[in-house]
Amino acid sequence: MNIDTPRPRLHTRFTALLGIEHPVVQEGLGPYKTVQLAAAVSNAGGLGTVSIPGITEEPGHGARLLRGYIEEACALTTRPFAVNVPVGSDSTGKVLAFSAAYVGAVVEAVRDPMIAQRLRVITTSAGPPSAARRMIAGSGLIHMHKVGGTRQAIRARQDGVDVIIASGYEAGGHTHSRPVHTFVLVPSVTEAVDIPVVLAGGVRDGRGLAAALAMGADAVAIGTRFVACRDNRDWHPAYAQRIIDAREGEDVVFPATYGPSRALPSQGLTDLLALAATGAEEDELTRYKDVRLIAGQRDGDMVGGLLPAGQISGAILDLIDVASFIPALIADAIARIERARGQVVLA
Ligand SMILES: Cc1cc2nc3c(=O)[nH]c(=O)nc-3n(C[C@H](O)[C@H](O)[C@H](O)COP(=O)(O)O)c2cc1C
Repeated sequence: MNIDTPRPRLHTRFTALLGIEHPVVQEGLGPYKTVQLAAAVSNAGGLGTVSIPGITEEPGHGARLLRGYIEEACALTTRPFAVNVPVGSDSTGKVLAFSAAYVGAVVEAVRDPMIAQRLRVITTSAGPPSAARRMIAGSGLIHMHKVGGTRQAIRARQDGVDVIIASGYEAGGHTHSRPVHTFVLVPSVTEAVDIPVVLAGGVRDGRGLAAALAMGADAVAIGTRFVACRDNRDWHPAYAQRIIDAREGEDVVFPATYGPSRALPSQGLTDLLALAATGAEEDELTRYKDVRLIAGQRDGDMVGGLLPAGQISGAILDLIDVASFIPALIADAIARIERARGQVVLA
């Protein structure tokens, strides 16, 4: 291709709403930092996501840490990026303290016009968005919410969110109590709501994006593939290597806060299951999980750490650079769509 020839682009409702170049999201990968990765993805024309520090931080301290992450990201990119906050509410409908602190920190941060230019999106996940929605509405933020079922998508739409992330059961990290896989979930969600839908779960290249568009989605959200990435500099490189080394079918689903989670096996996971079998309180289990997750991500403890990863880890064989990966993914998706069109025979 001549150097002056414009690169082909995939323009969707999602890219138009967010004002970004490519329909590719790097999703939340808590509970450790993803500031450098998020900035790299946004700088490459996708949407990067800053993750929260953890759900067992004292809420005020956690909110200050997150504000620091947001300011760091603003120093690394002038493009739109997101923050992910898992949300939960108690039996009275009140947002849980940690969720309220993190959502509050995001809403407060965008009062600064320099931050608001870049931090354009909040992505909620885990519990229903209704209680958090009341805090987010009026902030000027685009609100994306992640679901694992069609009814959840319809309710989130009714709550007023702007974008749905439909996350299939094969996804890494927190997955869903009702195991609906991406291929079944996404067509149902795109039929059920009239707002942009982002497919999450099992994407590693342009084939995933081409399939997402064919299923009516407007973008893809990627987790595991972006962990094994040179730009994920906040994390220990051993985590990326563990994903590259993972074999197909090695991942396991285990009970976690907000339902099941998908990870690679480790002694840390065996110990967690043993602790749960003793009847340990939810608080103790949650603290254990947060510490062990951060041990894996920050310190590279592949033995004692908890190692969330999707089924796709069995198909990831190399370390990527965001700046070349994203344009290659777009070009691959376009080539796949063209090839599929060429296979159509009009009888
Ligand atoms: C290491 C890891 C940590 C994750 N942490 C979070 C999180 O804090 N919040 C969240 O909403 N999803 C989290 N997820 C799920 C991702 O945001 C995303 O939905 C998922 O990875 C997409 O599926 P994939 O891994 O097949 O690409 C995590 C996933 C991984 C692999």
